[in-house]
Amino acid sequence: MTSAAETVDDYLPDDDVMLAARARAAELGCPAVAPSTGAALRFLATTVGAKAVVELGTGAGVSGLYLLRGMAGRGDGGVLTSIDIEPEFHRAARTTFREAGFPPGSTRLILGRAVDVLPRLTTGGYDMVFVDAAKVEYVHYYEQGVQLLRPGGVIAFNDVFSQPNRPGDRARRDAEATALREVARAVALDERLMPALLPVGSGLLAAARLAV
Ligand SMILES: C[S@@+](CC[C@H](N)C(=O)[O-])C[C@H]1O[C@@H](n2cnc3c(N)ncnc32)[C@H](O)[C@@H]1O
Repeated sequence: MTSAAETVDDYLPDDDVMLAARARAAELGCPAVAPSTGAALRFLATTVGAKAVVELGTGAGVSGLYLLRGMAGRGDGGVLTSIDIEPEFHRAARTTFREAGFPPGSTRLILGRAVDVLPRLTTGGYDMVFVDAAKVEYVHYYEQGVQLLRPGGVIAFNDVFSQPNRPGDRARRDAEATALREVARAVALDERLMPALLPVGSGLLAAARLAV
């Protein structure tokens, strides 16, 4: 039997711009989404016809590039608002987006803690929210992020699979694992959401906002 790829991560190979973005991320010591996670984000952005997307945790712009490409899939682009606490990461992400040919107006990079910035964004004003910042704050991102979605919009949380070998001290790992479990349970029970846990990368928990 033949198969399209050996693993979910080599089905859609990275192009040169994505490879350069991954190299910048590695150089800065910033973990980036797996190719399969990126492909799922791009797919979701295209499917919901996303024009306004919020990303928590810009990093070097790897996930942002997938999101922008998904938004561009409809032909008329949109604006990616991406939040991070590290100016150096924002500089790297700007390089990534420029190299990919996206004009400066297609991104709005906001420096700050996600929990401080989220309340300033427009309620119901976004098609998609991607969560990939501080794991211990995922519960706050969930509560604030769902408020930002228009009906039919999608929120997606990266890294939700349990990872006992995650870097960091024991207390921090435990706090992260607790936060991730709490969000996974809350999303599953939330009557405003239609969830699916996608087995890509380190686990992508996606949920569409229902019209309730
Ligand atoms: C896993 S990396 C993001 C990788 C990026 N999404 C990608 O795939 O290319 C996590 C990012 O969250 C940022 N971060 C950590 N704590 C944060 C916070 N409280 N608010 C906003 N960003 C934060 C880090 O600086 C880092 O860039």
